Amino acid sequence: MPDRNNRSDLPIHPVLNERYSPRSFKDRDVTEPELELVLEAARWAPSSMNEQPWRFLVARKGGVGHAELLATLAPSNALWADKAPILILTMVHRTFKRNGLPNIHAWHDLGGAVAMLTVQATALGMGIHQLGGFSATTARAHFQVPEDLDVVSVLALGHPGHSDALPEGLREREERRSPRSGLADLVRFGK
Ligand SMILES: Cc1cc2nc3c(=O)[nH]c(=O)nc-3n(C[C@H](O)[C@H](O)[C@H](O)COP(=O)(O)O)c2cc1C
Repeated sequence: MPDRNNRSDLPIHPVLNERYSPRSFKDRDVTEPELELVLEAARWAPSSMNEQPWRFLVARKGGVGHAELLATLAPSNALWADKAPILILTMVHRTFKRNGLPNIHAWHDLGGAVAMLTVQATALGMGIHQLGGFSATTARAHFQVPEDLDVVSVLALGHPGHSDALPEGLREREERRSPRSGLADLVRFGK
């Protein structure tokens, strides 16, 4: 297994340093209390005007909606995401409930909520892999998602497994730490 405990050279919080997007998942269930904690973490995320525009549709492997949500994934994602015990469809309200005006920070706030949920999952020894490679149109149609919600992503949740369990082409990718731009490329101070 790769040593994922030292992605950053700086002493950022261990949960942030250990987090990665797993493709390999153990054949181990996510318990109801574990799932509730992960969703509860998202609930406490900050949002513009405290709108809390995020919405989640949870499908458990073998349960209602799972096969249909899995079927929306691009084949390259479905190849491994079918092993994750939980798939979550993320959606977001585009407008403020109080006045119907556009909420231009809605997707931003969903991203923040997903970050919180991801950190909580990692702290519990689980992993989240966010997926943009899926058909939002198919998901919207099957799950009858109301028009005022954008369908944004799918999250695969489970306990990260060994890279050996993956098909050959994905093994090496699972072991490689994904690179990052340097802080100097991302940050400017004062000007
Ligand atoms: C919005 C979003 C969409 C993503 N879509 C996919 C996807 O369709 N397939 C995939 O394998 N990874 C997907 N990823 C995972 C990224 O590739 C991954 O987060 C990035 O390479 C950094 O790797 P790390 O999360 O392991 O640090 C997505 C991530 C985000 C945030």
